Amino acid sequence: MAKILVTGGCGYIGSHTIADLIDNGFEVVSVDNLCNSTEAALGGIKELTGVNVQNYRIDLVDEKATRQIFLDHPDIKGIIHFAALKLVGESVEKPLLYFRNNINSLLSILNCMDEFDVENLIFSSSCSVYGNARALPVTEKTPLQEAESPYARTKQMGENIIQDYLTSRQDQNAILLRYFNPAGAHDSNLIGESPTVPPSNLVPVITETAIGKREKVVVFGDDYATRDGSCIRDYIHIMDLANAHTKALQYLLDDKNSDNCEIFNLGIGQGVTVLEAVNAFLEATNAPLNYEIGPRRPGDVVAIFADYTKAAELLGWEPTRDINDIMRTAWEWEKKRVK
Ligand code: NAD
Ligand code: WQD
Repeated sequence: MAKILVTGGCGYIGSHTIADLIDNGFEVVSVDNLCNSTEAALGGIKELTGVNVQNYRIDLVDEKATRQIFLDHPDIKGIIHFAALKLVGESVEKPLLYFRNNINSLLSILNCMDEFDVENLIFSSSCSVYGNARALPVTEKTPLQEAESPYARTKQMGENIIQDYLTSRQDQNAILLRYFNPAGAHDSNLIGESPTVPPSNLVPVITETAIGKREKVVVFGDDYATRDGSCIRDYIHIMDLANAHTKALQYLLDDKNSDNCEIFNLGIGQGVTVLEAVNAFLEATNAPLNYEIGPRRPGDVVAIFADYTKAAELLGWEPTRDINDIMRTAWEWEKKRVK
């Protein structure tokens, strides 16, 4: 039973990944300062798996506090580093906050990896590293363009820092996972997306509107050169995404990697327009939704979706759910949250 440190373990992707890791026999320790979450997710994990996961409520920017985790747990075999701030718009307003939090917490983790000889790291990267990709679908070899936001730059920098760190390391490995658009909730409805800072992503905006927390959904533009004029994205169900982390970790633990830093795209390989997503919500839930067409959002790319062939071939990972599953589970979770 390998022990894994999950940073950002109380957050959205972290909590679902912890559930999947436990299901697959891993022991998990979490670290999360709760800047965008609560420990309620750990209660859901307990109900789901029967396991009480320990969380260190510390800020990873604090290297000394971070070191203490590794002193307490010298047997950590791998780290999955989710902890980061992720609001694109906020990062434009407060770039230094994003650099300080996202870069310094990564440096703390790498310093501990170095000092305590932790062999394996999985890093949460993002499709935003591709910027305005020139060709679709995007493969891991698609050239990265200029970052569209300080947030995206922290992901590009994070990838570079890890690659540089590993250049002179023989016994340490990392996988950089570039997620496309994660959404939906756990099938059990015991965990889901519960940020403490209001979300700006499409799916929670839709469910929060339908439940009455927001007045309306504004579709950001219907005059793009796409099949219905709205932007295209690759929405990946959170349970599929979580399972990819377990597979990536197992791949490293089994020494199947051919390079000590490998990159994988995680999407479902299908583009969905904003209007198609709205319709999927209406069909999957029968709930009413107040939405209207508004102006384009500055910085939005017209279309992006993944080629995930590499993850399928090397990790043995395949997405099993689609936008309808996303909308159904996100809606069940939203209804439960208001109770
Ligand atoms: P989230 O906000 O739900 O989870 C991140 C967690 O990290 C939060 O619980 C937060 O409290 C914690 N955290 C942040 N800074 C910390 C610090 N300095 N010390 C300790 N804890 C800290 O976000 P998420 O959606 O689960 O995202 C997880 C990772 O995946 C992030 O790195 C994010 O950038 C990346 N990512 C997310 C998406 C998405 O759309 N959700 C897409 C691509 C990449
Ligand atoms: C999806 C689509 C919007 C809200 C961001 C980050 C990316 C990754 C995922 C972290 C777009 C449209 C949205 C709304 C809308 N995160 N939309 N009305 O911008 O594709 O990606 O989250 O790494 O890096 O950039 O996600 O959910 O904000 O938008 O019409 O109220 O929905 O224009 O086409 P995005 P999103």
